[in-house]
Amino acid sequence: MNVVVEVADVATPDLLEGVNRLVPQLSSTAGAMTFQQLADMIGSPCVTFFVAKSEGRIVGMLTLATFAIPTGLRAWIEDVVVDNDSRGLRIGDALTVAALDVARELGAKTVDLTSRPSRASANALYQRLGFEQRATNVYRFLMES
Ligand SMILES: CC(C)(COP(=O)(O)OP(=O)(O)OC[C@H]1O[C@@H](n2cnc3c(N)ncnc32)[C@H](O)[C@@H]1OP(=O)(O)O)[C@@H](O)C(=O)NCCC(=O)NCCS
Repeated sequence: MNVVVEVADVATPDLLEGVNRLVPQLSSTAGAMTFQQLADMIGSPCVTFFVAKSEGRIVGMLTLATFAIPTGLRAWIEDVVVDNDSRGLRIGDALTVAALDVARELGAKTVDLTSRPSRASANALYQRLGFEQRATNVYRFLMES
């Protein structure tokens, strides 16, 4: 399988279809994106959206968020997912390496991410690529809907 990783910088119906095929493989609660939400996300100066494609079909995605704070330019990797039929081919590695390259080019001091311990493949991938586990507490404030 010939896979290429690229930055998606234009919202298209094909991109939306690919994203909405992948989102349920990552989250059972997230709803489908609308075209406008996709366009807004891609248009954000803080977001670099990577897709992996095989013969034009989207088989993986990763979102890199970069932002300046008083201690420097920081980056987060979020929503990494590879299509179920395309797993085990190191596509997740290729997406993550591409994101690290861009974060480095942008001058980010750190790249952070979280991954539940039950996500064995994901944790192995990040550690293989050099991510180190931090001793910190991760908190979330849930907004009432
Ligand atoms: C985590 C994830 C992105 C990894 O993507 P990937 O491109 O399949 O990664 P790899 O090719 O490195 O495969 C990971 C491991 O799973 C194994 N594997 C998983 N599914 C497989 C499949 N269908 N066929 C063969 N091997 C598979 C691989 O052999 C590999 O094991 P190894 O590291 O011991 O060699 C992907 O498994 C995924 O999308 N999971 C669901 C969402 C998720 O957990 N996202 C991460 C959020 S933090």
